[in-house]
Amino acid sequence: MMNLILLGPPGAGKGTQAKRLQEKYGIAQISTGDMLRAEVAAGSPVGREAKAIMESGELVSDDIIIRMLGHRIGQADCAQGFILDGFPRTVPQAEALDRLLADKGLTLDAVIELKVDDAALIERIAGRYTCASCGTGYHDSFHAPAAAGICDVCGSSKFIRRADDKRETVQARLDVYNRQTAPILPHYAARGSLRTLDGMADIDQVAAAIDGVLAVVHSKSQELTKS
Ligand code: AP5
Repeated sequence: MMNLILLGPPGAGKGTQAKRLQEKYGIAQISTGDMLRAEVAAGSPVGREAKAIMESGELVSDDIIIRMLGHRIGQADCAQGFILDGFPRTVPQAEALDRLLADKGLTLDAVIELKVDDAALIERIAGRYTCASCGTGYHDSFHAPAAAGICDVCGSSKFIRRADDKRETVQARLDVYNRQTAPILPHYAARGSLRTLDGMADIDQVAAAIDGVLAVVHSKSQELTKS
């Protein structure tokens, strides 16, 4: 059982690393951004409320998010643990998470912050796109398909870009992160659970640094069990 939070500004690599952790440890990736995008695509009441807010780079209301998250961590695929990717994002969300975990008798093993320069974030996000059919990620500068316009994995020629990945919206998302999300870092630092890693390193190096943090957390919890 392992419960983690991945924190960091838009484009820091939370989703990239969360997918790897999901595969490696068999724990659930919970991305509130992906959940909201699914609601928008389905045209649900939550999706209709969230669409314009997300496209402007602002945050969806705490009430909606906390309700969604509370429901999600009770699902069967979270039995071995979960990685929170994009939650919590405000102090009220962090406090609500504390209550939710306490109610369920769960604890957090680590809160991992990925730190990346603002200029690199804008470059990473403004160039990314995904295959509309299988979801494989590409990037204009760093990772184009081997044959132009054809997905390497499924051969589809349809690609999509997120509506909030325009350069000007990315700047707004960064401002929101600094104003509303960065203030939750002291909440976790005060408990000694925050680990800050260099998100500027390449994807494999970041993954190795996360594994290093988890190995330490795991050995500490084994020592506690023995004593
Ligand atoms: P969300 O979907 O959570 O987006 P985000 O936090 O802005 O993060 P991203 O998904 O853009 O980036 P990421 O850190 O996952 O990076 P990635 O791995 O993709 O939220 C979207 C919106 O939903 C919010 O603006 C808000 O409106 C709403 N929302 C969501 N949660 C909410 C909440 N809790 N409360 C209220 N509102 C909420 O990587 C980015 C790119 O960089 C990729 O191309 C990747 O290949 C590349 N890359 C990754 N790592 C590296 C590396 N180490 N080196 C080089 N390139 C890298």
